[in-house]
Amino acid sequence: MSTHVRTTTAERIASIELHRPEKKNALTGEMYQAMTAALARAEADDDVHVILLHGQADCFTAGNDLADFLAAGPGAVADSAAARFLAAIRTARKPIVAAVGGVAVGIGTTMLLHCELVYATPGARFQLPFVTLGLAPEGGSSLLLPMRVGYQRAAELLLLGRPFGAEAAVAAGLVNQVVPEARLLEHAREVALAVAAQPPESVRLTKELLKRPTARELEERMAEELRLFGERLGSPEARAALGAFFQRKRG
Ligand code: COA
Repeated sequence: MSTHVRTTTAERIASIELHRPEKKNALTGEMYQAMTAALARAEADDDVHVILLHGQADCFTAGNDLADFLAAGPGAVADSAAARFLAAIRTARKPIVAAVGGVAVGIGTTMLLHCELVYATPGARFQLPFVTLGLAPEGGSSLLLPMRVGYQRAAELLLLGRPFGAEAAVAAGLVNQVVPEARLLEHAREVALAVAAQPPESVRLTKELLKRPTARELEERMAEELRLFGERLGSPEARAALGAFFQRKRG
């Protein structure tokens, strides 16, 4: 059991909670491993019909731990725990409901592209700062984002890397609905229960059909993104941007 990822299974729902509040739920290798294992357990358990992914109502995740990025050498990404988590969420056959409050940065936003139903609080803040950090898009975002939100909007979100709010995320089709913070987790659970009550085989084949048009291209694109991401991690642009984050904290 991971210290920073809490998993429970009840009422046909496998819940995966990110729980590292002192670091805004920034994701470490150990957390990715725990999330990947939880997805695998949920997939293998016939009593589980739905996966529920969440943080706390005021924090989803600040994305990959930047200290880990700084420590990683170039090329270390393709075979990383993060890459295995992304492959697991890409190929999950059971539906995933996500509840997002507070920050959802980097992979915190791109993992949502692989979820079926996403709910967010009015204060949720999404951001794709890969370019700003001198990195490359990941999680299939270079393919899925323009398909979801249109080319111009995807270019804006990726090239400028600015945060955007829950209403903008709904308008862009990245979030199903905005839910008050006090109701977020309860609402997401209610929806998960409603999906879990549907005939599971029908749910699964519908998800498979929805994903099929992009499945092969997505697998290839995510491999390419990770190759480029690994190269970029060692670039002077990325080293400077990542170093600046921790300098800012000290300053
Ligand atoms: N990696 C490692 N540590 C992180 C982190 C990350 N991605 N995000 C936040 N933290 C840490 C901070 O360093 C700080 O730790 P400290 O108290 O030991 O200094 C703590 O979490 C709280 O973060 P803080 O920046 O003080 O909170 P905030 O509310 O002012 O800002 C964010 C929140 C998410 C906007 C800001 O932390 C941020 O921009 N983080 C980086 C996000 C990012 O670029 N992710 C990777 C994308 S590829």
